[in-house]
Amino acid sequence: PDVSEFSVPMPLPPVLAPVVSRRDVQIYRLAIKPANVSILPGVLTPAYTYGGSFIGPTIRAKAGRRVIVSYQNQLGVSTNVHLHGAHVAASSDGYPMDLIEPGGTRIYDYPNRQQGATLWYHDHSHHTEAEHVFRGLHGFYLIEDEEEADLRLPSGAYDVPIMIRDAAFDAEGKLAFSFDPSTRTTLLVNGKPQPYFRVAARKYRFRLLNSASERVLQLNLGGAEMVQIASDGGLLPAPVPRTELVLASAERVELVVDFSRYPVGSHVVLSDGSTPLLRFDVVRSAPDNSRVPDRLRPLPALPKATVYREVSLGFDFTSGDLPIGVMNGRPFDHNRVDFRIKRGTTEIWNITNADPEFVTHTFHMHLEQFRVLERNGGAPTLDDAGRKDTVFIPVGGSVKIQTTFTDYLGKYVYHCHFLDHSSLGMMAQMEIVR
Ligand code: C2O
Ligand code: CU
Repeated sequence: PDVSEFSVPMPLPPVLAPVVSRRDVQIYRLAIKPANVSILPGVLTPAYTYGGSFIGPTIRAKAGRRVIVSYQNQLGVSTNVHLHGAHVAASSDGYPMDLIEPGGTRIYDYPNRQQGATLWYHDHSHHTEAEHVFRGLHGFYLIEDEEEADLRLPSGAYDVPIMIRDAAFDAEGKLAFSFDPSTRTTLLVNGKPQPYFRVAARKYRFRLLNSASERVLQLNLGGAEMVQIASDGGLLPAPVPRTELVLASAERVELVVDFSRYPVGSHVVLSDGSTPLLRFDVVRSAPDNSRVPDRLRPLPALPKATVYREVSLGFDFTSGDLPIGVMNGRPFDHNRVDFRIKRGTTEIWNITNADPEFVTHTFHMHLEQFRVLERNGGAPTLDDAGRKDTVFIPVGGSVKIQTTFTDYLGKYVYHCHFLDHSSLGMMAQMEIVR
């Protein structure tokens, strides 16, 4: 299908209204259902959706206030929901074999005992997660906390979630899934190809998420400065000016862009390398009493690690048409626990891309945010800063991370977040024990 540049406005995902809202808990209800959605101009595309919208409704949670979401599966296929980046009990984590059958309902309990951060929710049904997320099972879940609100960063209408992903369509405008990422040539920004977004000449906070199955974005504003304030797990200690950043699948980055630098009438383009993604149109002036303080939120001191582990990600190319994804040499098997971790332990994991020349990966751990200590034996990059739950592991790359397994017990997975790869087996599990 033909896509003309910057001809459609960028939509904002709807915000989900709770059915019950109390000081201590908010209850939401959300149907997972097929719907015909508008992605390409003039075509309706059948999709899998949360609540009927291609980018699921945003859940706005508060740190310390519990959220309960009751999901009804009206899809006709099994699904489940993982809240990516959340610190939750195993029973609410969307374990890959723990499914909501067609017609079924499941309640997920999110305590939000973590600081403000840009999280997202998505399908995690084993073998089908790549296809289900591709078909539209993705949405934002934003945790806000009071300390952060006191910083007076841009907020309200000036705090904008932006989900970037790719897609492949057939001649009728239907989503065409395959395990071949090179078919996904259309980039979508909040579900639209190359949209524009009208902004005022003031500061905005953008929460960027790469929800593509298998794509690494090289984001830039054509050389102009973007001020990074947060990564996956929330605020950085201090703002960092960036002109280009790498955002791999499932990673988030939060940027403040000050459009007061530009005269009303100007255009600023967000691109992936040299491919334009989104055009900001500066259309009016506006008052701005938001700010970006020099100090945001310090990272906690790193405790001493007592356990060291090795993880390798790769493919076994020796079998049939599709390769088999492996972690430490073996594909996902829910009967196998690779690491038994004693609760309270601080660990260092060295994660290596074991594949030859051409295959890149990412690494994502459920349950805990981690810190990147080293990349390729040297200092981490700016893209590794802050509290992370997903990191890019390029060809020949290795990353050393540290985390502490604080409280929950049970089985949690870790995997490559190229969902094509995890669907093909590149996933393993740990069990946190007493
Ligand atoms: Cu966003 Cu196990 O995944
Ligand atoms: Cu991978």
